[in-house]
Amino acid sequence: MKVTILGAGKMGVSFARSFCKYEKIKPSDLRLVTRSNRNHQELRRQFPQAEILCFDELETIAEGVLILAVKPQDFGKMMESARVQIDGNVLVLSIMAGITLSEIQRKLRHKRVVRAMPNAPSLVGAGVTGYFPSAEIDVRDLLQIERLLSCTGMSMVLDNETQLDSVTALSGSGPAYFYYIVDAMIQAGKTMGLDENVAKQFVKQTMLGAYYLIQNSEKDLSDLISDVASRGGTTEAALRHFEQQHLAKILSDGILAAEARSKELSAVTVLP
Ligand SMILES: NC(=O)c1ccc[n+]([C@@H]2O[C@H](COP(=O)([O-])OP(=O)(O)OC[C@H]3O[C@@H](n4cnc5c(N)ncnc54)[C@H](OP(=O)(O)O)[C@@H]3O)[C@@H](O)[C@H]2O)c1
Repeated sequence: MKVTILGAGKMGVSFARSFCKYEKIKPSDLRLVTRSNRNHQELRRQFPQAEILCFDELETIAEGVLILAVKPQDFGKMMESARVQIDGNVLVLSIMAGITLSEIQRKLRHKRVVRAMPNAPSLVGAGVTGYFPSAEIDVRDLLQIERLLSCTGMSMVLDNETQLDSVTALSGSGPAYFYYIVDAMIQAGKTMGLDENVAKQFVKQTMLGAYYLIQNSEKDLSDLISDVASRGGTTEAALRHFEQQHLAKILSDGILAAEARSKELSAVTVLP
């Protein structure tokens, strides 16, 4: 299967790396399309057998899967100058936030489109991707998409396109929330007098261990919290402060703000 990736940035390259690493495609079936030849040397070093070209050199995509991995704001501009012909058989997978299926279909003049929202841990094969197909996509196409996405982590088909806004807010942006909390904990460790590298190791291993307990324990989250927070103890002191400051609501409101922004972007990203 040929795979053409438009936009060799963070996500485009991480997808390309996973497809090659897990042998989902032959390295010679990979084509990376960039804006300029600025990073071609580096891309050739990483993907010696792939075809690497600039967008204005791209004339036809005759087969396989086309992955749209440019920033949403670049997509409109890019298509204005596009000469590229996309064969009707090509399966398009967009990972761009906030550009709807109908917009992509209109811009590309192409019907077979799947819209997906991956997240940054795809880079290490531990991502999660929600996706929604256009009506023209059949079961074989979905299997092909699943096959590709499986090497970036877990993937799940959604019930409707608007759920992509929730997925964007939860898992698309989610890694940044996690880094934010991890960073706040490390800063607290420093405030208490620990060296930064020591605080980092304690916090990172705590997050990893807690993740494994969530995955492997039969208890629900409130029981796991109770197991750590003995009455009158240290954890209870911290949790009481979080409750008083409405931390859970603050986090929830932040995630809903991300969802609202995703909807807003979908509504305003009507491309020329
Ligand atoms: N990062 C995430 O965690 C994440 C998660 C979910 C979804 N996404 C989606 O993934 C997409 C890519 O995000 P990213 O973080 O990988 O962004 P990025 O690192 O900025 O990559 C975008 C790439 O597209 C290139 N590009 C721009 N115009 C082009 C053109 N006309 N032809 C070919 N390439 C062109 C850019 O080249 P230049 O370097 O020359 O500008 C850049 O290398 C976005 O739509 C985003 O919504 C990202």
